[in-house]
Amino acid sequence: MSKYSEKVMDHFKNPRNVGEIPDADGVGEIGNATCGDIMKIYIKVDDDEDRITEAKFQTFGCGAAIATSSMITELVKGKTIDEALQISKKTVAEALDGLPPIKMHCSNLAADALKAAINEYRCRKNGNAGCKQAPFEDESCHYHTEDITPGE
Ligand code: FES
Repeated sequence: MSKYSEKVMDHFKNPRNVGEIPDADGVGEIGNATCGDIMKIYIKVDDDEDRITEAKFQTFGCGAAIATSSMITELVKGKTIDEALQISKKTVAEALDGLPPIKMHCSNLAADALKAAINEYRCRKNGNAGCKQAPFEDESCHYHTEDITPGE
């Protein structure tokens, strides 16, 4: 019997929202130095409502990373920025009817990539040009999503 739920298998085999948004309002990229997987999330935001209207992802990673990316892009659509920031790795895992414990870090990647995209969006919205995400470098997959700084 598979260790994965039907939802995980479905999002792995038929991932939703794959691709990039060329004129994205925020992009977040997170990598896990241990497994080498990389995830990139793009968001479009309605400025007036502070609401995410579109989300896409590109993931180089395991099946769980693909399923969690797919699910998180579904979860955030239509949410306000504040609501989207409440999405945690637990939210993503629960929406997929659970993940094996050894794969929980994969949903962490998705939640952190989303937060990084939102941080970049907020940085730009505050009138800063060239907002850049700090390079990820942490061996333990712990990523400081606040580390987004305006460019020169
Ligand atoms: S094993 Fe690396 S994200 Fe899943």
